[in-house]
Amino acid sequence: MKPVITQHIRAIHDYPKAGIVFRDITPLLADGPAFQQTIDHLVERYREAGITKVVGIEARGFIFATALAYALGIGFVPLRKPGKLPGKTLQQKYQLEYGDDALELHADALTATDKVLIIDDLLATGGTVLAGVALVEQAAAQLHECAFIITLNDLPGVQRLNDAAIPYYTLCEF
Ligand code: PRP
Ligand code: ADE
Repeated sequence: MKPVITQHIRAIHDYPKAGIVFRDITPLLADGPAFQQTIDHLVERYREAGITKVVGIEARGFIFATALAYALGIGFVPLRKPGKLPGKTLQQKYQLEYGDDALELHADALTATDKVLIIDDLLATGGTVLAGVALVEQAAAQLHECAFIITLNDLPGVQRLNDAAIPYYTLCEF
């Protein structure tokens, strides 16, 4: 059963700009038992899935992805904002509400034999995670699923993942 974590997600209104309700995960991270239950639940879900790499999205995704990778005893692979990874990279651009951004993956970080779980803290418009999925595809690795702590149901990310038939899992919804 999913742990109930909504009470550990703080709503901050009008951050980073007017009209946005920012879903702040820091109370969840600061509560030892709640954070542990969150990771333990993901460990149970993915323990027998044959995943070979947990791919985390900068920056908040790293927090959950590294804890999960450690608990599963498998490797962690970071997807980073441009210019942060020192080796040869693959890059995928994506749209933000205003302007563009991009994510990068070390070109040698995944292989065709890898079965990958992508983790981020939150799904909103879906632009970020879809760029992550595209990078996993560029690397010719197999995507098992994308997992989020939070999905925002009034934004198009859920529909975009459904339309693209990308499997995903979420711990809580707003
Ligand atoms: C946030 C969040 C997701 C992304 C979701 O990251 O952590 O990665 O936005 O939004 P989307 O579904 O509309 O793409 P942000 O870019 O704010 O970076 P951070 O984790 O470094 O704070
Ligand atoms: N990333 C994109 N939208 C967000 C929101 N409403 N709260 C927290 N992180 C976000």
